[in-house]
Amino acid sequence: MTSRSGFFSSSVGKKYLMGVTGAGLSLFVLAHMLGNMLLFVSPEAYNLYGHTLIHSKFIYFFEAGLIVLFLLHIIYGVTLTLQNRAARGYRTYLTTSGDKAVTFSSKTMIWTGTIVGVFTIIHLLNFKFGAYYEIVYDGVTVRDLQRLMLELFMSPWYVAWYVFAMLTMLFHLWHGVQSAFQSLGFRHPRYTPGIIKFGAVFAWIVGLGFMSQPLYVYFFLN
Ligand code: HEM
Repeated sequence: MTSRSGFFSSSVGKKYLMGVTGAGLSLFVLAHMLGNMLLFVSPEAYNLYGHTLIHSKFIYFFEAGLIVLFLLHIIYGVTLTLQNRAARGYRTYLTTSGDKAVTFSSKTMIWTGTIVGVFTIIHLLNFKFGAYYEIVYDGVTVRDLQRLMLELFMSPWYVAWYVFAMLTMLFHLWHGVQSAFQSLGFRHPRYTPGIIKFGAVFAWIVGLGFMSQPLYVYFFLN
């Protein structure tokens, strides 16, 4: 019988962990993108949503979970990429046929992932640990994140960087979501076309959703 640590150091175990962490992070980015959509409703809706999240009882538990997901994903992603390169040509990905079908996004996972990682650090420094403004709604003082967003998205350079980073996230997810299904055991050829379509639709919805936000602020709110 293989021990649990033995399973997670085997290539099947590593791939499984990539699937779990990738799927968890994908659900997180979807929820984050949908929450941010409140900026299209009103500054108040957006700020009160942020306030509710920050003051939730579960926030520390949730943040700790996200950090663990991110770290495991990065460590195993880098390890698998190095192993795959050492094994020259060995593919762990869901591809339709032969090398020609290995898409641009599957070959660039490590690079798109690295850009998303750098983006995440800058994003946390700018928003979570950035300037702290306050505003009062019905006697309740909340953090004015909308004001901070207007300030940051005033710069065309910042907007361009944000859109570029979200485009790389789109490519990471385009291949990543279908690969996660495969890693988690959905390998039957009957499911393959549906999984490929689902991965593409998911990536475009999340990618375009995130891109729409800085563009809207830059062109319509500033
Ligand atoms: C919110 C951010 C991220 C999301 C939503 C995400 C999502 C995913 C998904 C769904 C997969 C497919 C998992 C599988 O094959 O089973 C994947 C794979 C991968 N990710 Fe990420 N990822 C993110 C950040 C990162 C970061 C920061 C890196 C840093 C290097 C990274 C590197 C990789 C690599 C190298 C693979 C392919 C690993 C392999 O060879 O199977 N990802 N990602």
